[in-house]
Amino acid sequence: MSAPETTISEMPFSLEDSNDESVFLSKVAGRALRIAVLGLGHVGLPTALGFAEMGWEVLGADNDLAKVLRLTSGDPGFYEAGVEELLRKHLQTGLFKPVEDLGAAIRSASIVFICVGTPQHENGEADLSQVESVARTIAQNLNGYKLIVEKSTVPAVTAKWIQRTIHRYASGGNGKSSSGSHAVAFDVASNPEFLQEGSAVDNVFHPDRVVCGVESERASRILTAMYGPLQRPIITTDLNTAELTKHASNSFLAMKISFINMVADICEAIGADVTKVAQGIGMDPRIGSAFFQAGIGFGGYCLPKDLRAFIHLADSYGVDFSLLKEIEAINQRRVEVLIKKVRQALWVLRDKVIGVLGLAFKPGTDDIREAPSLRVIRALLDEGARLQLYDPKAMPNVQRILPAEEGRIRYCQTPYEAARAAQALLVLTEWNEFRDLDLHRIRELMEVPVIVDGRNVFAPEQVHRAGFEYLSVGR
Ligand code: UDX
Repeated sequence: MSAPETTISEMPFSLEDSNDESVFLSKVAGRALRIAVLGLGHVGLPTALGFAEMGWEVLGADNDLAKVLRLTSGDPGFYEAGVEELLRKHLQTGLFKPVEDLGAAIRSASIVFICVGTPQHENGEADLSQVESVARTIAQNLNGYKLIVEKSTVPAVTAKWIQRTIHRYASGGNGKSSSGSHAVAFDVASNPEFLQEGSAVDNVFHPDRVVCGVESERASRILTAMYGPLQRPIITTDLNTAELTKHASNSFLAMKISFINMVADICEAIGADVTKVAQGIGMDPRIGSAFFQAGIGFGGYCLPKDLRAFIHLADSYGVDFSLLKEIEAINQRRVEVLIKKVRQALWVLRDKVIGVLGLAFKPGTDDIREAPSLRVIRALLDEGARLQLYDPKAMPNVQRILPAEEGRIRYCQTPYEAARAAQALLVLTEWNEFRDLDLHRIRELMEVPVIVDGRNVFAPEQVHRAGFEYLSVGR
């Protein structure tokens, strides 16, 4: 495998000009500067394509050559509505160019977004080695003023570390600070992303708010000029505050979900309906109705990870934020709550044929990272059930970690195939296509008509009318 033929021309304007703030700002206003986006995953790629769509010339850099080659051929490598179209469009316009050479991309760009991965250690602490590594690469390739924007989700004080790391290594690796008379100027900003998978492209163009953590007027002015055309509220803060806003935002969303899931358990215990309770409380504007869908808990790459990182951060500063730990514990218990329902319907699970609809951690994506469905599936397999799985997008990803196995795991082409001869049908992701299923046909196909709906996709009357025993969440 060899790197694609990509020539990256030099920075479109001189070092002297780049250090002149008014010249720099006039170039920003005219989108006459190049942006480099480092890391082309679920955050980096939509971000890069979003800027290309706004008319910027964007170099998308990733040191995974296979990924760069795939992107160059027009394949995003994951499913996200609108991304493939934008990718193909801007490969054509030339406004987006995937490259493997991070150093070259940094040298030829004036604004650099850090979107590399921040996986997690066992203890919940973020692994920042990729961030540190790109900070050093940036330092070694500073050839004029650059604005370095951290977009990856990172623990508070990471931007300060990026700043310190660039200062330390910008002198060419001799360990001396670059803050002397020959120092190349740069600013570090924190601009956390709030993209939701499944609507990432829309979120890029219509963010609820843009948070800009800065330490200089210049950085603030550049970011304001870049995001101004979106005509969305811009909140300017210091670096730590911007980073903390992201932790707090995702943890609050997680709290709403865990809260409503516990309300669901109480509803079941006393015979109330959680969907109505959610409606009743959500209409209070102080509370809001979003993130009140009870179910099998939150998954995905961000909510669980950011919550654990926040727990770790609070612990490491000696702050007793035990509420966060409870949010996490409630979420962990959701899978067991669902398995109990399956047992309640089927008694013994060994050798039972169970259809499973929905594997992605949420609809609109093929992402299965920390998907609650996987924990449900593993628990059912441990009890000896035989599974027939279906998901409109995520099956190839699940197949890679749980290959088909005769008499144990079968992947199906349609939801109806997953229901055939099954003794229960589980709904684990609320894809819209499940709402339109022909329940009478499903009833005919199944051996025992039981639906366990972990996402409250169906209206109970509708399912009962079709002749099913129906267990859902909190109603
Ligand atoms: C999240 C944040 O929403 C986003 O702002 C941040 O940038 C990245 O993390 P995402 O990971 O795409 O986005 O998923 P999100 O839509 O937040 O859903 C997370 C999980 O919560 C999913 O498993 C979803 O099924 C679950 N969920 C969500 C519920 O169980 N109930 C709800 O009411 C909402």
